[in-house]
Amino acid sequence: MTVNGVPVVAIDGPTGSGKGAISRSLAAGLGWRLLDSGALYRSVALKAGREGFGLNDPQALAAAASRMQVEFSPALDPEAAYLDGEDVTALLRTEECGAMASRIAVIPEVRKALWVRQRDFARPPGLIADGRDMGTVVFPEAELKVYLTASPEERARRRYKQLIQKGIDVSLPDLSEDIARRDERDANRVVAPLKPAEDARVLDSTVLSPYYCHAPIRFWKV
Ligand code: DC
Repeated sequence: MTVNGVPVVAIDGPTGSGKGAISRSLAAGLGWRLLDSGALYRSVALKAGREGFGLNDPQALAAAASRMQVEFSPALDPEAAYLDGEDVTALLRTEECGAMASRIAVIPEVRKALWVRQRDFARPPGLIADGRDMGTVVFPEAELKVYLTASPEERARRRYKQLIQKGIDVSLPDLSEDIARRDERDANRVVAPLKPAEDARVLDSTVLSPYYCHAPIRFWKV
């Protein structure tokens, strides 16, 4: 099925499952738009920190989620993000911002405000939607739903490698603990928990390189 006539591929999964890299390469290969929904939650977290809204103020957080201006320029840099006109690419990618985003993501008012914004990404010629609830809540009518996963140890190792390559100093045991905490919160929240949609194809990427993840998804899409 399409979303208002636009084909959508939903790719969900936990941190480090490889969904970001796979989504970016699929979008580039197909010439489709890309929704990195985690970047929207991270943007709300950044804005909340700057404007001093706490987790106990859902209305202010939801208003920030609706009002903030977010732009992505995947053609220039796949991760480039601008929040209210400012380049926040590096700030959004820190572990602190990810952890805060996971805490903000349990708030139903924020999810509702972002649901509307996320739906708006479905524009021709097609959309690759990357997140936690793309196939279950945001695009339940997506024509293909993939749930990408990998062992917690492998996901922590991947994340560690990415952060070290970016010059960010982290310890693998601390990172493993943070990832376990984030998995627990994302999978057990009441609204839109992280889980595969009933009609999702589950792909375990633990021993797969990005190429070998990409290939079955392209095949299912055809
Ligand atoms: O994918 P990510 O690491 O950038 O996401 C950061 C956090 O945002 C994640 O821990 C939970 C939340 N999130 C969510 O609840 N729903 C989404 N569709 C995407 C992200």
